[in-house]
Amino acid sequence: MYSEKVMDHFTNPRNMGELENPSGVGTVGNAKCGDIMRIYLDIDENHVIQDCKFKTFGCGAAVATSSMATELVKGKTIEEALTVTNKAVMEALDGLPPVKVHCSLLAEEAIHAALWDYAKKNNIVIEGLKEPK
Ligand code: FES
Ligand code: FES
Repeated sequence: MYSEKVMDHFTNPRNMGELENPSGVGTVGNAKCGDIMRIYLDIDENHVIQDCKFKTFGCGAAVATSSMATELVKGKTIEEALTVTNKAVMEALDGLPPVKVHCSLLAEEAIHAALWDYAKKNNIVIEGLKEPK
């Protein structure tokens, strides 16, 4: 049912934890399952994401997608980070079972919320980023 990559990121999650002085933080939840995901971003003066950590209170697929999403955004600029969609995360994990697709949406939403927080704090506009719900 789960790919080897999903199992790997679930049993050995990358970048789990929090950042002490994050440039941006985003917390999102899924009302149906009650799962919560928080993403911390450390962004340098060139708008490049230097570090990223996550805390997820949720299912295995949510943990695996958080882990993969943090790996994918590291080293990207804040604009490039928008390419880390739930589809991109799922592809990087070699797929998720259909009932678990919504779990990967949390990762995309949490990244967007963290970027929004950063943009707000720094009074900048990130092209293509919509205000989180
Ligand atoms: Fe059912 Fe998340 S809402 S698995
Ligand atoms: Fe809720 Fe996966 S079951 S995020």
